[in-house]
Amino acid sequence: MPTENQMKDMKQNSIMGSSVTEGEIVCVTGGSGFIGSWLIKLLLERGYVVRATVRDPDNSKKVKHLLELPKAETHLTLWKADLAEEGSFDDAIQGCTGVFHVATPMDFESEDPENEVIKPTINGVLSIMKACAKAKTVRRLVFTSSAGTIDVAEQQKPCYDETCWSDLEFIQAKKMTGWMYFVSKTMAEQAAWKFAKENNIDFVSIIPPLVVGPFIMQSMPPSLITALSPITELISFYSRIQKRKVATFAPLTMLPLSILRKCSVTNTLNIMFPPSSKMWMRT
Ligand SMILES: NC(=O)c1ccc[n+]([C@@H]2O[C@H](COP(=O)([O-])OP(=O)(O)OC[C@H]3O[C@@H](n4cnc5c(N)ncnc54)[C@H](OP(=O)(O)O)[C@@H]3O)[C@@H](O)[C@H]2O)c1
Repeated sequence: MPTENQMKDMKQNSIMGSSVTEGEIVCVTGGSGFIGSWLIKLLLERGYVVRATVRDPDNSKKVKHLLELPKAETHLTLWKADLAEEGSFDDAIQGCTGVFHVATPMDFESEDPENEVIKPTINGVLSIMKACAKAKTVRRLVFTSSAGTIDVAEQQKPCYDETCWSDLEFIQAKKMTGWMYFVSKTMAEQAAWKFAKENNIDFVSIIPPLVVGPFIMQSMPPSLITALSPITELISFYSRIQKRKVATFAPLTMLPLSILRKCSVTNTLNIMFPPSSKMWMRT
């Protein structure tokens, strides 16, 4: 018996007709967000069939901009999934050749950071990786990490690369603005690397700095709150920019200049990145 999600995808596939065979099917988690929605727009432009996961597909404030994208009617489906629920992404990922895991809880003011931010981020990526392994169709999983996994430490280094990790003990002790986000992303990425190596998953981790630029979602993206903090005078956010000697602003509409941690099984970057993209990588 197909699930509600599968029925929706089947209906969409029948609408798409021959276009289904044109494009590969990829899944984007956190599709309604700042980066997720841009990524979906670009994937649709390039002919991919996209399954976007969101926590509430019926929340038009969060999904309207996706449904109005060019090609959305024929190439985009929305799937309900939550990082806090084990197995939640299984249906959306089954049958995909690529997965972009973009979703993350971004609540810097959470009253229960352990359960609302840290655990869902770590357990969520592992749940997604298990779904990829089960699906047997996924060639590559791309994880959106963060520069917060690289450089949050007492002493700043003159130079950072993909071998650097933030100091979890320092973050836990200092509890600076966004500390739960830095902990969640660092622990999630480390857990993901372990799982990828143990289960032979072709895994790429992109480590963007602060991403700024125009947004197509309907509300203000969290990272722009930080980016605009020198103007809005939200001092706690501004101090994060001030302290970061590597603070680079990545224009969203271009492929960001990011560090890339890469575990290559196939040793190719064929499905996710055009050859012209500029990235540092570990192979
Ligand atoms: N923007 C930056 O400057 C920046 C820099 C470095 C790294 N990154 C990384 O890039 C990714 C995207 O960031 P963004 O700026 O696009 O953030 P965003 O706009 O807040 O998008 C994140 C999305 O994650 C989804 N989400 C949150 N909690 C979830 C949960 N429990 N289960 C499932 N989905 C959940 C939300 O979707 P719904 O509420 O609709 O479900 C939201 O749309 C994140 O992984 C972030 O760590 C961003």
